This record gives sequence, structure tokens and C-alpha cells, in this order.
Amino acid sequence: MTTALPGTAERVARFPFPFAADTYRYSTNVEPARRTVPTAAGSWGDRVLDVDAAYAAELELRREVLQRDPTRCSQLPHMRVAAWDALMTLLPELAATYPGAMSLQQRGDRWLWRNDLIGSSTSFVPGDEDSLPGGPLRLLGSQIQEDVVLLDQREGSLWADAGLVTFAADWSMGFDVGMRFLEVHGPVPRVHEAGVVQRAEQFLMRLQPGEQYRRTNWTMTVDRRLDSSTETYPEWGRDRRLVVDDPALPDRLHLRVEVQHLLRLGVSNAVCFLIRTYLLPLRELATVPEWRRRFAAVLAELPDDMADYKGLTLYRGAAVDWLTAG
Ligand code: HEM
Repeated sequence: MTTALPGTAERVARFPFPFAADTYRYSTNVEPARRTVPTAAGSWGDRVLDVDAAYAAELELRREVLQRDPTRCSQLPHMRVAAWDALMTLLPELAATYPGAMSLQQRGDRWLWRNDLIGSSTSFVPGDEDSLPGGPLRLLGSQIQEDVVLLDQREGSLWADAGLVTFAADWSMGFDVGMRFLEVHGPVPRVHEAGVVQRAEQFLMRLQPGEQYRRTNWTMTVDRRLDSSTETYPEWGRDRRLVVDDPALPDRLHLRVEVQHLLRLGVSNAVCFLIRTYLLPLRELATVPEWRRRFAAVLAELPDDMADYKGLTLYRGAAVDWLTAG
């Protein structure tokens, strides 16, 4: 399944190009949220929740994915308070970012959410599941393009105990729910020996209520496919091979960047992890000469184990050839 494209100009201008050098290695790359980052084509990063031209299309895609596979929204029973906390933190955040189009108002016990961008309005009583069919995570996921994971902190660890993730890059919320932070990162090469995940967990466990940080992560995806969850692998896995000899390779291969926000929620003390996915086809990326050169260099130099983990092995040579030709 593919999503309607927002305009090329906007997509390039707001793309969070993630490479600060010609080589890439994993690190605990966190920085404070809301800082604007200038790029060779524009800028990104001034907000925590980002609505763009693909908003309605991506929300519709999420609705369809959830309808087919409800396990993309998974929540252990003890995460009820955290899920409400996430809703009551992020709806006001969204309304503050888009005040003309969205609002959250209290009327007695009930709160009224209005979103003119997609013509939706809902009222609910915070904490009362009966007042909100589907629950708080489902409502949240119907209003933001970001995927959400909520981590409980106990026994000296973080636990991925709830989440609504429809746009996973080759992992599965249904599979990971209930896992410790270190276990979630089990398949990632290098990060355990290098202490990257351990340091990240220590950092996250020290986050104070209201503190907001972010990081980027990247991989590549064939076609504009947001839903590349483990569950749908049979639909997209073979495209990695088929794209290599396809003349449409520069239009089909996308740099996939996740802007991930990390917030401590004030009521539940849960860590809220937001994953916003941006996809840019190589052909559009190459309109920015600095990006074209740098991405080719990063891809060519990337160690094999990292390329394998990211699923790039079959087509990275073809991608580098195209980026460096002409
Ligand atoms: C500072 C915080 C974090 C750091 C430094 C970090 C680091 C990483 C790295 C380096 C990867 C490999 C990505 C790739 O090569 O494509 C990864 C994957 C992943 N991370 Fe994190 N991460 C952080 C926070 C989180 C949080 C809060 C969650 C929430 C549960 C999370 C869930 C995942 C998942 C599910 C994967 C994919 C694992 C798989 O292949 O099954 N990360 N992370």
C-alpha cells in the first residue's frame, strides 16, 4: 500500500536529513527537542508533533492498518494511566502547535477535542474508558502522524509496555510489548558491545517530568511504504531484490528517517517515545547536491553488519551507483 504524496518542494525543504558527516555509526545521539536545524534545503525540528501535507492520508492509512491488525495497538493493563497521560499531554501539545485548527476544551467533567484539519470532534472524560470507545491510544493515533510507545520504569529498567505503532521499520509492536528496553534492542548490532543502549536507558531513566529530547534514526525503504512492520514482511520483503534491476530504482528507493522524541510524562512517570517517519525518494534527495554526495558516501562506507541489519545489502550498491553517476 502507498500513501498520497505531499508536494516535492515541501518534502525536500522539511526533510530531516540525518547525516552530519560522510560516515555513520550508532551513538546515543540525543539532543533537546524543539531546536530548529537548518539543512542544505530548508529546516526541520522546531516542533514535537509535526503535521504535513500527508496528514490526512497517513491517518487514513493508520486506520486501515489497525482495522486489519489490531495488535499494532498493544497495551498491558497497568499502562492505563500512562495512556491517558499521553493523550492529555499530546492533545494540548497539538492544539498549541496548530491553534487555528485544533482545540481541547474542558466542559465540566468532559473534555472536547476538535480538529478542523480532518473534521473530527470527540468528547471524553479523562480516565474513564467507557467515555472513549477504543481508548486513549487509539484516539491519539487518529490525530497525530507519529507512532507512540510508552515505557514503564520499574526494577531499574524501562519496559515497552504499551504502544500504537503502525509504521514500524521492520519490527513489531505486538511482538515487543512487555519487553525490557535492552531486549527490544536485542537484534541491533554493535550497540550492546559499545554500551550505546545501556547509556541510552540510563539517560532515559533520569529524564525529569516535562523534559523533552529527540534523536534521529534512518534506514531505507522500497516505495513509499510506511507500514513495513514485521507482520507485513511477505508484502514488501522481495521488493528489496526486485528493485535492484528496476529502471525506476531512484523513484522507488527512499531514505527513511525517523525523528524520535523522548518525553517524561508528568502523571504516570512513563517515558513517551514518539516516532515520526519521513520518506524521501533518491530522485528528490539528489536534487540537493550536498545530500546526494553525502548519502552516497555514507552508504558506500557503511559496515556490512549495519547494512545487513538495516536490510540494505541487496540494493545499496545499485543506490550508490545511481547517486554517484552523472
Ligand atoms: C536514546 C534512546 C535510544 C537510542 C540511542 C536507540 C538506539 C537504537 C538504534 C541504534 C537502533 C538501530 C536502528 C537502525 O539501524 O535502523 C534502534 C532500533 C530500535 N529501537 Fe531504539 N533507541 C533509543 C530509544 C528507543 C526507545 C525509547 C524505544 C522504545 C521501545 C526504542 C525501540 C527501538 C526498536 C523497536 C528498534 C528496532 C529493533 C529491531 O530491529 O527489532 N528505541 N534503536
